[in-house]
Amino acid sequence: MKTLITGANKGIGFALAQNLGHRGYEVLVGARNETRGQEAVEKLKAEGINAEFVKVDLDDLNQLTSLSALTDIDLLINNAGISGNIHSDKGHLDMEKSAFDYSNSDLEETIKTNFLGTHAVITELLPHSLTENAKIINITVPVSQEYWMPLAYVTSKAAQNAMTFAFGHQFKKDKSQKQIFAVMPGAVATDLNGAKVGDSPFVKSPEETAQMISKFIFDNKNHNAQIINFDGTIYDNYEPGLRNKVIKDVAKNGLKRKFKK
Ligand SMILES: NC(=O)c1ccc[n+]([C@@H]2O[C@H](COP(=O)([O-])OP(=O)(O)OC[C@H]3O[C@@H](n4cnc5c(N)ncnc54)[C@H](OP(=O)(O)O)[C@@H]3O)[C@@H](O)[C@H]2O)c1
Repeated sequence: MKTLITGANKGIGFALAQNLGHRGYEVLVGARNETRGQEAVEKLKAEGINAEFVKVDLDDLNQLTSLSALTDIDLLINNAGISGNIHSDKGHLDMEKSAFDYSNSDLEETIKTNFLGTHAVITELLPHSLTENAKIINITVPVSQEYWMPLAYVTSKAAQNAMTFAFGHQFKKDKSQKQIFAVMPGAVATDLNGAKVGDSPFVKSPEETAQMISKFIFDNKNHNAQIINFDGTIYDNYEPGLRNKVIKDVAKNGLKRKFKK
């Protein structure tokens, strides 16, 4: 069994590498920086894990084409990501930062890394590198919570979440055995947000988070096209009200009629 984890040199990605490595997975440590990636590989090897560095730079779409040479990946974990300039003069993780304080380049940079880069990793691996029953897991966040809506970050993750649904539905349509789903881990103490375990009762360690994510990977349920919250709540749609209305309309009038002029 083989897994590729992007951004596996630290934080949640490294904890997942340890967790899956101890379950017997061969771990491909995806990292953009070779020195940081190799350091993570050495730490994993010291724990008896079969690990290898693979360069994954989400900001370099040309570099990502090299991933198509990989083979037999059972688990692809799209973990690498950036927070998209959530800092302000009030602090590292400014929960109150105004949505109007994000520049176009904040949006461009964050969407490029979190969405376009992740999209490219998946599409490079899809044709030949994944096993028939492979699972693709995206690490994500809720994107419309009033208490925390950093514009660049949630916009990039919303696009990623839409991709999770779209690719999941395509797998179903194609009768593929593959699955793609996303997990929302909640607040985790990592460099991404500068939070520490104990800052609040909600902040988890990366190790606890890896354990929670792996529970969903190995629960023998089909999670294709779902977004799973850390407490197990499952979302399969962003607009349930809209879906119900459209489905009722289509059931009543038929699909063709909806598109008639
Ligand atoms: N922490 C949380 O509370 C939380 C909550 C929900 C979701 N998440 C998600 O969890 C994932 C992991 O975050 P984390 O909290 O573990 O953060 P982290 O400790 O900052 O780790 C982020 C990882 O992503 C890598 N990365 C960043 N930009 C990259 C790029 N352009 N190409 C390749 N790798 C890149 C980093 O590599 P470098 O070391 O080279 O920078 C690092 O390995 C992210 O997708 C994040 O959105 C986190």
